[in-house]
Amino acid sequence: MKGVFITFEGIEGCGKSTQTHLLSRHLEAEGHDVVVTREPGGTPIAEAVREILLDPANEAMTPLTELLLYEAARAQHVHELIRPAIEAGSVVLCDRFFDSTTAYQGAGRRLPDIDFERLHALATGGLSPDMTIFLDLPVDVGLKRATDFSAPDRIEGEAIEFHERVRRGFLDLAERHPERIKSLDATGKPEDIAIAVSALVDPLVES
Ligand code: TMP
Repeated sequence: MKGVFITFEGIEGCGKSTQTHLLSRHLEAEGHDVVVTREPGGTPIAEAVREILLDPANEAMTPLTELLLYEAARAQHVHELIRPAIEAGSVVLCDRFFDSTTAYQGAGRRLPDIDFERLHALATGGLSPDMTIFLDLPVDVGLKRATDFSAPDRIEGEAIEFHERVRRGFLDLAERHPERIKSLDATGKPEDIAIAVSALVDPLVES
């Protein structure tokens, strides 16, 4: 049996990691074999690239270098972990995937003249999520949640206008791909959001 590939997306502090965790517990209780992973990261090489990407000391990094490092980490992650897990029949839950690159590097960094879809296809070998859950909330709420208990990393430390463009980037993606990307209001209680997430995912994993 072929597995299912589900991604979570959203701005900083939207609760993706919590929802990924809650959904994995729910699916495991239903008897599914679940693999939880994240981007950038998920394998030793991709986690090493993550360190470089998020280190606030790397302020000299150009937007193009940043873009290519996210895609490089993704290429390794898909090859080494995601594709084999899907082929083994697992439900793969990934905290961020290529929509984050379109939103952060495309809309956030405003990289001109780049065909993001072609670049994603190159990095992933054409793999796309079966469903993407976009957890939407206002930027000020998300940034407060994300930086209340820890120092901001290189991306979190960007100006509020950058994060506003990222949110708009996600909203545009959700509008362009309504069959794949499902938007949920992320301002509510985690338990209530988890119920909404399960209602979207259950029919997909049961089919
Ligand atoms: P995380 O904090 O959700 O683990 O994500 C790491 C950071 O990397 C977050 O600030 C979003 C950013 N990011 C991008 O800018 N582009 C990407 O393609 C991905 C996957 C993450």
